[in-house]
Amino acid sequence: MNVPQTSLEYSHFPVMLNEVIKICSPEKGGNFVDCTFGGGGYSEELLKFPNTKVTALDRDNSAESRAKRISEKYLNRFSFYNEKFSNLDKILEGKDKADTIIFDLGTSLFQLMDLERGFSFNSKNRLDMNMGLSSISAEEILNNFGEKSLKMIIKILGEEKESAKIVKNILKVRKIERISKVTQLVEIIKKSKKKNFSKKTNVCTKTFQALRIFVNKEMTELVEGIIKATKFLKKDGKIIVVSFHSLEDRIVKSYFKNYSENNILPSRYLPEIKDKKIIFFKGKNNKLIRPSDTEIKKNPPSRSAKLRFAIRNKEDFIEPKNFKKKFVKYLNLEKLNA
Ligand SMILES: C[S@@+](CC[C@H](N)C(=O)[O-])C[C@H]1O[C@@H](n2cnc3c(N)ncnc32)[C@H](O)[C@@H]1O
Repeated sequence: MNVPQTSLEYSHFPVMLNEVIKICSPEKGGNFVDCTFGGGGYSEELLKFPNTKVTALDRDNSAESRAKRISEKYLNRFSFYNEKFSNLDKILEGKDKADTIIFDLGTSLFQLMDLERGFSFNSKNRLDMNMGLSSISAEEILNNFGEKSLKMIIKILGEEKESAKIVKNILKVRKIERISKVTQLVEIIKKSKKKNFSKKTNVCTKTFQALRIFVNKEMTELVEGIIKATKFLKKDGKIIVVSFHSLEDRIVKSYFKNYSENNILPSRYLPEIKDKKIIFFKGKNNKLIRPSDTEIKKNPPSRSAKLRFAIRNKEDFIEPKNFKKKFVKYLNLEKLNA
C-alpha cells in the first residue's frame, strides 16, 4: 500500500454507525455477523458492549491485519474470515443463529486510497479493481472482451448513457496499445463524454463503477448474500444493508418488500415476485434511512448511502427461487467471459 496506514485510520468514518448500532441494540448482547468488516468500525463498536459476539468477513485479505488487532483486544468474542459473503453458509453452518447480520456494501476507504489497486481515478497504477478473491481484473476486461459485452457492462452496471462512444474509443486505443493504466482509461472516458465536466460527479464515475461491479461480481454477491443471511437469522433477528448505488438499493428494496408480511402492492417498477407463499420478514419494510446532514458534512462520501433493514418473522427457510429470476439480467451479465 502506498498510503501511510495512520492517515487512513484518522479519516475512516463508518457510515451511519449510530443508526446501525441503534437497530442492532447490542446492549441486550447477542450474536452479530459483520459481512463487510472493512476498517472494522461496526464490529468494534458492537464489541464495546460486554455480551456481544461478532463474526466478521471480508473478501480483502488486507483487512486481516486490522481484524487481528480487534481479536487480540476482544479474546473469544471476535472471529474473522477472509471470505466472500456469498459463502456465508460455509462460515455460519453449525453455529448459533444470528441476532443481526450487517452488510455495508462497496469499497472501503482503505481500498480507494491504496492507489496501487486502481479503484480511484487519481491512481496512476494498474487497472486492477479486485476487492479480493476475484478471478479477473479491469485490465483483462478492457483488453479481452468484445464490443457488445463491454457496452452491456458499462451501460447496465454503470448506467452510463454514453457507453457506445466510450467502448468505440476503448477499441480504438487497444488496437494501438494495451490499456493497462488508470490514466489511459480516464483519458478515453474524458475524450468520449459529451459533457466533460460536472460539478456533482466525476465523468469517470459510471464506467469505473461498472468495471468494479463486474470484476467483483457485486450483483451476484448481494443477491446470494442476503438470501443466505436470511437463512441464518433467529426469529426477530435483523438484516441490515447499507448500499451506495441504485442497482444495489433496487435489489435490497425488492427483497425486503416482496418477502414481507404486509407487502403492499409494489409500483410497476417493482413487480411482485411470484414466490407468494414465502414470507421472511415482519411488517412492511419500505422505510429508507439516510445519513444526517451532520454526517454528510463530516464525511461527504456518505451522502449516497441508503440503509434498509428487515426483521425475521420465524426461523423456517425456503429458497426464494423467483427472487434470483427477477434479477437474472444482472446475474447473467456477470457471468460473461471474453
Ligand atoms: C464500505 S466497506 C465496510 C466498512 C466497514 N463497515 C467499517 O465500518 O469499516 C466494505 C468492505 O466490504 C468488503 N466487501 C465487499 N464485498 C464483499 C463481499 N462480497 N464479501 C465480503 N466482503 C466484501 C470490501 O472488501 C470492503 O472492505
